[in-house]
Amino acid sequence: MKAAAFDVGTTGLKGVMVDASGAIVAEATVPYTPSSPYPGWSEQDPDVWWSALTQCAATLVDQAGQPDAIGLSGQMHGSVFLDANDASISPAILWNDQRTEAECQQLIAMTDNKVVEWTLNEPRTAFTAAKILWLRKNHPDRYDRLSSVLLPKDFIRFRLSGERLSDVTDASGTNLLDVRARAWSAPMLEATGISRSILPGLVESVEAAGVVSSRAAEVTGLRSGTMIVGGGADQACAAIGNGIVEPGTMSITIGTSGVVYIQLPEISLDRTGAFHTFCHSVPGTFMAMAGVLSAGGSFQWYRDTVGEIDAAEDGFEGIVRDLDTVPPGSGGLVYLPYLTGERSPHNDPRARGGFIGLTARHRRGHMARAVIEGVCFALRDLVETVQAMGVDISAVRVAGGGARGRIWLSTLASVLNRPVMATDTPDASAYGAAMLAMANCSDTPISELARAWVKTSPPVEPKTADAGVYEDVYGVFRSLYPANRSAMHALFAIDSRTSQGASR
Ligand code: XUL
Repeated sequence: MKAAAFDVGTTGLKGVMVDASGAIVAEATVPYTPSSPYPGWSEQDPDVWWSALTQCAATLVDQAGQPDAIGLSGQMHGSVFLDANDASISPAILWNDQRTEAECQQLIAMTDNKVVEWTLNEPRTAFTAAKILWLRKNHPDRYDRLSSVLLPKDFIRFRLSGERLSDVTDASGTNLLDVRARAWSAPMLEATGISRSILPGLVESVEAAGVVSSRAAEVTGLRSGTMIVGGGADQACAAIGNGIVEPGTMSITIGTSGVVYIQLPEISLDRTGAFHTFCHSVPGTFMAMAGVLSAGGSFQWYRDTVGEIDAAEDGFEGIVRDLDTVPPGSGGLVYLPYLTGERSPHNDPRARGGFIGLTARHRRGHMARAVIEGVCFALRDLVETVQAMGVDISAVRVAGGGARGRIWLSTLASVLNRPVMATDTPDASAYGAAMLAMANCSDTPISELARAWVKTSPPVEPKTADAGVYEDVYGVFRSLYPANRSAMHALFAIDSRTSQGASR
């Protein structure tokens, strides 16, 4: 028995095929680039995704034969707008597009501030509802022709099967789902005037949701009639791929961004708004999720600028080789990782990064260590927010590129003052979606499959002496954003003004 899965990422589509033991038997990636016609905009022609899918599917079938079921995963929140002939009426607006700040305010006003009560989530520029309102306000002619709105992976499902269906994890990120009831929110639709008829039907991640049509079979090489499961949002699928299938186990994925994800024992809301409360891919369960924007991204920035001399010969190793000789706390140097603004917990696009505490004694090694520590402090901010929601954390798993660096694991363990374990599932979103497909076709509960397939390394323990120092430095770190917020905003304004001047 084999399962295939496709993850519609932001910069590429990834396909994997796994066998009944969870071993990867085929994989393929097709890259693409979203476009940004104006500052803060991020768009993609959905046909580019479809073309990438046909190439990936053909490669998988070529390498490993036909799958028995297909799973889908994808970047969240993006809006594919289709007319009555199923042609897209404008490019899809992606999760990282920032154009809808006014529409987010409008959502609060339209719902008489009940949007959180109805959907469990505050409006965000990322989320889909604000994108639909933006289309209505700015392109009323196009809005009049709007016949359906689909999320990126569900557009692929539609092209594969002709079915307009989504799963509850992805639908959670639209601001239109009653997350508690796992159904579209009737009061939300009424208040916004968005018609139920433009939204897809809903299933759980492991449920069947369409079969490959004969038309799609011709262009993809997949067998007509192959079952497609609901699948999930990329973050939910990545959590499955990292084995997050019971309450208490948290995953911290350190990629360009850093995502903290935990299955909840019961619905709990983060009143600070840092965490989203969404449906999880284990049927009937919920999760809390939040992210810092520049985690591995901070380290990449450091490597490509300050650290380029150390990285010249030996890349990452060249930078981290001697970091053990730098004391914890980097000799009183603190790094703020807000290089691209911050999502959680500050929700501040104008936040700026920085080093505080530089002295003439500091060398590049201090700065490199401070960068890693600063990212870990930002992640601790999120871990503490989850605890403040009343959620117990029994274990922490580290995933993504950060899970492969010993220095990241040991620093995070000491900053959190608890053991952490690495999971090294490559392409966890695609792998998690393949697990969802296999769970369906082998009639195995997803949690059982995840326990059998996902491997973790032995725990990395905190170092007691380091943890004591970090406790103090974390206190300083916490004080720095509020103390410098207005300076950050003033610098943002100066930067915007002068950069525009420079480009004229
Ligand atoms: C989650 C989010 C991103 C996208 C793209 O809320 O915005 O993680 O799913 O990966």
